[in-house]
Amino acid sequence: MTLSAETQQVSRKVLVAVVDGNAEHRRQVAIALTSFYQLADYANLDFALMELAHTPPCVILLDEMSTLRRGGDPITEIRRQLPGTPIIIMEEHLPNRVVAVTGTADARLTKPFRRSTLIKTISALVNKTVEAHWETLAPQYRDSLKRTVESFNNISDLIDRGEPLAFGDVSSACAPLVDAVRNHDFKVILDGVKDHDNYSYVHSLRVATLLSLFGHTLGLKGDALNVLACGGLVHDIGKMTIPHDILNKPGRLNDEELKVMHSHVSRSVDYLSLCPSLPHGVLTIAAQHHEKLDGTGYPNGVKGAELNELARMASIVDIFSALTDRRVYKEPMPPEDALSLMTERMDGEIDKHLLGMFKGMLLEAVSP
Ligand SMILES: [Fe+2]
Ligand SMILES: [Fe+2]
Repeated sequence: MTLSAETQQVSRKVLVAVVDGNAEHRRQVAIALTSFYQLADYANLDFALMELAHTPPCVILLDEMSTLRRGGDPITEIRRQLPGTPIIIMEEHLPNRVVAVTGTADARLTKPFRRSTLIKTISALVNKTVEAHWETLAPQYRDSLKRTVESFNNISDLIDRGEPLAFGDVSSACAPLVDAVRNHDFKVILDGVKDHDNYSYVHSLRVATLLSLFGHTLGLKGDALNVLACGGLVHDIGKMTIPHDILNKPGRLNDEELKVMHSHVSRSVDYLSLCPSLPHGVLTIAAQHHEKLDGTGYPNGVKGAELNELARMASIVDIFSALTDRRVYKEPMPPEDALSLMTERMDGEIDKHLLGMFKGMLLEAVSP
């Protein structure tokens, strides 16, 4: 079985270039970014431009004292040689400093900057570039991506403000996605988020897409498909309130961290329960997607027949997506390996009959 071509995520981290004459500062930036991005660091801008012409970075971090051998403004030259590459200027907070870089950058950071600020700034620019590319896609793909990311970001704002989510808003945001799925026309959508740097959004969009496709394959129609897409998009929203360090920790979580991570389910349920317009199916998907048929899941150890059909489907899609997602700390597992692992090592935990149908669906989706 070979599913790799269409459904497998490309294995790579986003490339970030750093240009700074100060070796110690380059070292510090490298330490800060190393688990999140692939790094290329340069003491000299002329050399950086020569090298980066072959492998353009997604973002360039430029010290404000950087100069060019032939003179001229470094930003203008970077824009000429690496069009579309966002530039972050790293400036010193010194009085009367003489600055070599004068053009307009996409963002500025004053040294010394916090690691979290650096990562947040890079991430926002990477996403801006990826989202700008969506404008070039056909309307059904463009709308699926733009409207779901808007809806996802909006939910994050609503949670911050303690305001309920209106189901009509999520539902209409997911409508283009459901249309694309109904036409088995979703591969461009999954490709469109490969380089997006908001992992929670990428995972949720992949679950929404595969879950509604699963529903469509099982013969569900209309509102039911919409519930699956919306349930997929919001199933992990409780993670929006989990600390970044736990959410993105490379390696194993300790018991305390695991407890916090598992609490994303009750956080999702607490918030979604405050949204009166939400269909029950959406809430069920969020509440039960980590439960297992043999009762070993969380948060309630729900067992066998108590496990809702939608949640059984969501659990399969969620596990498959998590295994095949690209994370900063792990390579994506090839889809065929993920399905073998689910078949061989999760016996008794997931619904075998549904898993068989899910496998068949993926095979059909990638067949020529
Ligand atoms: Fe989850
Ligand atoms: Fe999930």
